[in-house]
Amino acid sequence: AELGRILFLPGDGIGPEVMEEVRRVIGWLDRRQMGFEVHEDSVGGAAYEKYGTPLADDTLAKALEIGTVMFGAVGAAQYDTLPFHLKPEQGLLRLRKELGLFANLRPAMVFPALAEASTLKTELVEGLDIMILRELTGGVYFGEPRGIEELPDGQKRGIDTQVYTTFEIERIARVGFELARKRGNKVTSVEKANVMHTGILWRETVKRLHEAEYQDVELSHMYADNCAMQLIRAPKQFDVIVTDNLFGDLLSDAAAMATGSLGMLPSAALGAPDADGRRKGMYEPVHGSAPDIAGQGIANPLATLLSFAMMLRYSFDLDEEADRLDAAIGRVLDKGLRTGDIMQPGMTKVSTSEMGTAVLKELDASLS
Ligand code: NAD
Ligand code: IPM
Ligand code: MN
Repeated sequence: AELGRILFLPGDGIGPEVMEEVRRVIGWLDRRQMGFEVHEDSVGGAAYEKYGTPLADDTLAKALEIGTVMFGAVGAAQYDTLPFHLKPEQGLLRLRKELGLFANLRPAMVFPALAEASTLKTELVEGLDIMILRELTGGVYFGEPRGIEELPDGQKRGIDTQVYTTFEIERIARVGFELARKRGNKVTSVEKANVMHTGILWRETVKRLHEAEYQDVELSHMYADNCAMQLIRAPKQFDVIVTDNLFGDLLSDAAAMATGSLGMLPSAALGAPDADGRRKGMYEPVHGSAPDIAGQGIANPLATLLSFAMMLRYSFDLDEEADRLDAAIGRVLDKGLRTGDIMQPGMTKVSTSEMGTAVLKELDASLS
């Protein structure tokens, strides 16, 4: 029985390496009669090599049609000097925009076994479970005007524009309040209303929605610079953080270090439900292509496997299988297996595929 279709876009660097482990988990599900139809295409630098563009129209059409995408990572030094529209990262941004994936869920959860792997003190991160909700299709990533222009005096001027409409702010805030109701019931809305017009509108709009529909949820407002500090000082004060595209990018990398490594942070990018209640989703690790360790088979595949668990949960309503995968990962860590990025004294260092094998073994064990 086919449960649905998934488009695989492995991308560059460690992208294909960590995605391979997802493929193995899909194979494991398949053997339990939970089959997915997996399609695959290129994105980023790999797509530039193959099609001359970081996201071919045909690939985008497939993504739109299939609606559920598993994404690895994009980017490599040799593409950094390409014209802006040909850069690997533009393939990713176009996918997010064209699929309408405005809500980016970036949970930062500390596995018990990794509390000591964090660069923060153990007691600060033990039991941490926060959700950074990043607006993903607006703000300075897409605002017009943008570009680099020549000035008459020979100087150049680079322009990026931060823009948000009340519609965009309200729909992301709504997702934040709904998420909070199923978790710790607390939302921290993060902007810079002290210096930015978009920040003023953001705060006003979130307040209004809260007044009108979500008074049962505890809401507070925080400036983004303070939030960065608070995430390092006392991350457990947060439940759901709702913030814009750029601040969400920065704050989620910062939050990653509470969990031990960027290699542990998964994400789900979701669209609005369509007429028949289905929403598009793209699932990817928060980390990039990690050129410094690519090709060595040592990348941590857990962020990507946890992202696949989010896919099972949010795109296919397979909560039980998602829980099973999350738990298997927890047990592998309990047993002391570590890729290099989360390596601690006395633990067993494993490769990307050995980590995947260990997860499959725990999945098997969960059935007996
Ligand atoms: P990065 O996330 O690729 O790497 C940052 C550091 O974290 C590196 O030292 C890397 O080795 C380590 N790291 C990341 N993931 C890891 C994993 N799974 N296991 C072990 N270690 C891991 O960020 P960067 O170096 O700033 O960027 C490299 C390239 O990736 C750039 O081209 C950038 O644009 C791109 N990028 C892509 C995405 C994406 O595709 N979603 C996200 C961020 C960066
Ligand atoms: C991320 C990445 C991307 C972003 C880049 C690669 C476009 O850093 O997903 O966090 O800035 O959104
Ligand atoms: Mn990022």
